Amino acid sequence: MQQTLILLKPDAVQRRLVGNIIERFEKKGLRLVATKLVQASTALAEKHYAVHAGKPFYQSLLDFLTSGPTLAMVWEGREAVSVCRTLIGSTDGAKAPPGTIRGDLAISVQNNLIHGSDSLENALQEVQLWFNKEELISFSCTDQNWIG
Ligand code: RTP
Ligand code: MG
Repeated sequence: MQQTLILLKPDAVQRRLVGNIIERFEKKGLRLVATKLVQASTALAEKHYAVHAGKPFYQSLLDFLTSGPTLAMVWEGREAVSVCRTLIGSTDGAKAPPGTIRGDLAISVQNNLIHGSDSLENALQEVQLWFNKEELISFSCTDQNWIG
């Protein structure tokens, strides 16, 4: 079973889309193993998006991620990293296909509602960045045999 970090960025919280988005992950069959509302500091935002340091949109991205509360979550399930990226859709909300979170709910490149880890390696690092070990709850759901 893989784990992946999902962030519902400040625009998702402000637009009251948290429930809509969480429902999609639940219905897919993923399991929520950690969550908390976080007011991200600049230091946390810099670490999270370190790969984009120096790019023209970097400062704006840091300002965006620190502009209000973010709902941080860890979702678990079979192929969770790629499954979540598929549910999320491509970066630019205007180009993301209908049926995806960004395709249905976003039209901006920057204000695209959600982050999902893009590889298993990054997922492991990002989960550690946003959560302490004790915040991850290991449990099973009774319908697991039906979901696979
Ligand atoms: P994320 O990391 O948030 O899951 O998004 P992603 O993989 O789809 O896209 P990535 O290339 O990693 O970009 C990270 C975030 O930076 C903002 N962005 N703005 N103005 C721009 O050209 C631009 N490009 C990217 C978006 O918020 C994107 O999610
Ligand atoms: Mg990314």
